[in-house]
Amino acid sequence: MKAIVIENYGSAEELVEKEVPMPELNDKQVLVELHATSINPIDWKLREGYLKEMLPFEFPIILGWDAAGIVKDVGADVSDFQIGDRVFARPATTAKGTYAEYTAVDEDLLAHIPENITFEEAAAVPLAGLTAWQCLVDFAEIKEGDKVLVQAGSGGVGSFAIQIAKSFGAYVASTASGKNEDFLNQIGVDHFINYKEENFEEVLEDYDIVLDTMGGEIMERSFQVLKKGGKLVSIIDQPDEQKAQEKGIKAGSFWLNPNGRQLAELADLLNRGQVISTVGHTYPFSAEGLREAHQLSETHHARGKIVIKIK
Ligand SMILES: NC(=O)c1ccc[n+]([C@@H]2O[C@H](COP(=O)([O-])OP(=O)(O)OC[C@H]3O[C@@H](n4cnc5c(N)ncnc54)[C@H](OP(=O)(O)O)[C@@H]3O)[C@@H](O)[C@H]2O)c1
Repeated sequence: MKAIVIENYGSAEELVEKEVPMPELNDKQVLVELHATSINPIDWKLREGYLKEMLPFEFPIILGWDAAGIVKDVGADVSDFQIGDRVFARPATTAKGTYAEYTAVDEDLLAHIPENITFEEAAAVPLAGLTAWQCLVDFAEIKEGDKVLVQAGSGGVGSFAIQIAKSFGAYVASTASGKNEDFLNQIGVDHFINYKEENFEEVLEDYDIVLDTMGGEIMERSFQVLKKGGKLVSIIDQPDEQKAQEKGIKAGSFWLNPNGRQLAELADLLNRGQVISTVGHTYPFSAEGLREAHQLSETHHARGKIVIKIK
């Protein structure tokens, strides 16, 4: 099958097309014919070699950890999925990712794609949507009436986080630059903050939850908007535990744990129109398409998700 791989760490020029063997299935896996995948910053962080100690994969590495497609084969123990089903997943983190025509996915990581969304829209959801869900629901235990600040609401994780928080009945503030104000208002933000003109910590107070997608000094400043008993969850850095104790808040860093059951809950929100998948940019499935997609993601100024149309 065709895949776009890297055979060395380095720039986007390392992305090349290669014929690779079809994935082999174990009894609990499903073979997915991929129709779309999406880009996440982990793709180019891994490509550059930043994660080589944490994820010491052997070359060639097929990057990509968002799958949307059609079931072509099922393992002997698979019970909830059948050939022909439309499915999506954040597959396990292996060197056999989703910049490929086919991928093998563990059954418990899969969910059915709602009928009202396309493969491209579906491919945008799993990694970013599950990260947002787990930060807000599992870590921060979001509830109706909470005041929630989402940093970088126009990004992949942020745009899902805003909508998930709204679906729980939260009041949501979010940061982005002025060009994204209309977009954030459309997806439900109650208080938009243009980070180029305002300091969020000067205009927000007594927040219950901050979802930090930026780290560094933005994470540090995020402490100031939280009330006692509030929660700071960062997907970038480890917040200072002593500072959190002094302020009486729960703070932690979070790493996504793929989960098909939670993806099915997101599918339900998508089906009801409470969450919309924002595909900001689409590229073809070629070495050139992937290179351009990576270069855009590396600017850290893409809107919504960057999707690769495979079929
Ligand atoms: N721990 C985990 O499990 C996990 C999971 C997923 C992602 N992540 C990490 O989380 C980060 C965010 O991922 P993502 O996919 O959401 O990124 P993304 O889609 O690339 O985010 C891009 C967005 O960030 C906004 N932005 C840039 N600088 C900003 C600033 N100073 N203040 C507010 N917004 C700003 C941009 O808006 P403007 O153009 O308007 O500036 C743009 O829309 C990445 O570093 C990624 O690796 C971690």
